[in-house]
Amino acid sequence: MKRSIRDLVNIEGKKILLRADFNLPMDKVGRFTDTTRLTNELPTIKYLVERGARVIICSHLGRPKGFDFRLSLWPVSLMLMKYFPGKVQFAHKVVGDEVLEQANSLSNGSILLLENVRFYKEETENDPNFAKQLASLADIYVNDAFGCAHRRHASTYGVARLLPNAIGFLVENEINLITNALANPQQPFVAIFGGAKVEDKIKAITNILKTADSVLIGGAMAYSFLMAQGQTIGRSFSNLDSVKVAEEILQEANRLGKKVLLPVDHVAYNFNDKKQRPFTTDILTGDMVGSDIGPKTIKMFEKEIDGAKQVIWNGPLGKYEDDKFKKGTFEIAKAIGHSKAYSIVGGGDSVSAVKQAHCLNLINHVSTGGGATLKLLEGGTLAGIEVIQEKYI
Ligand code: 3PG
Repeated sequence: MKRSIRDLVNIEGKKILLRADFNLPMDKVGRFTDTTRLTNELPTIKYLVERGARVIICSHLGRPKGFDFRLSLWPVSLMLMKYFPGKVQFAHKVVGDEVLEQANSLSNGSILLLENVRFYKEETENDPNFAKQLASLADIYVNDAFGCAHRRHASTYGVARLLPNAIGFLVENEINLITNALANPQQPFVAIFGGAKVEDKIKAITNILKTADSVLIGGAMAYSFLMAQGQTIGRSFSNLDSVKVAEEILQEANRLGKKVLLPVDHVAYNFNDKKQRPFTTDILTGDMVGSDIGPKTIKMFEKEIDGAKQVIWNGPLGKYEDDKFKKGTFEIAKAIGHSKAYSIVGGGDSVSAVKQAHCLNLINHVSTGGGATLKLLEGGTLAGIEVIQEKYI
């Protein structure tokens, strides 16, 4: 078990470098569309502030190539100020004398938010000197950035090797809930996968087949599964590699005696129709492009979810960002929300669908991770957590 911030003693006056994930989703004009990652981070910050630690927070935002004012974390510092009035400062850099000076002059129980760490290419390169400079800012390192805990970057991995360290409440909670749901599932356990590429999900689906009672497949990757079963898919999205992967998964499910439920009908449009007018069909042929699961499939999936004691969902079931093809994803979000099953939803698109379907509060655990959650579903470990010290017993 990893050392948690609860295990840190005498932190009053200590400088704590807290790696958070404030990579908040933004719309086209740069407004934050969801602040869950920030609000979920508040308990850890509050805990440290209340104990008089000097908290230096580091995060990335987006994937900038060098400095990009649109991806500055300065607006996030304003949001933090609302929760910690009079206690928050912003550093326009991440390393260097100026920041060191700001960190050293922080008073107990106050917060310094550093600028976007990805403005430095050394961050993603896990540059040892950059990690050293980051480490020089603090006495202790705390990783609470679950969303990027799978990244081996300077602020998520390199710096942890240079300072006494621990995980924060958000990371602890995410890891405990997800790993426990996989290791000791309440049965019947239904796993739902969607999204475009089956190659991205192969390890997760294969791992979950070991413990799940049934796996429901939707989204563009469903077409590869249908092809693997010998069905026609018209001009829907697929490729030979994906079909091969889908075939392997179906064989594995067969070997384990597990149920894999695929769509039995679709919402599609004609490839030559510029307006992409939707229609429902049981079989995809000719120029049809499948874009969402159809009403019979929704009913079939709802029935499966209704009988479940545990549901894990990752990936949208259609092109849900287009109003014409969002019904499947939204109905399944609602079914999960209203079911009695213990539910975990992970992945940016699924979480956003649950939110838009007004079901966020009905889900037992909404994960702040995308790639990191998938890594855990694969049965894998997270580099940024592996590097943290074990708890002394
Ligand atoms: C995420 O949004 O999934 C995390 O913040 C990680 O971001 P990244 O994929 O750019 O590393």
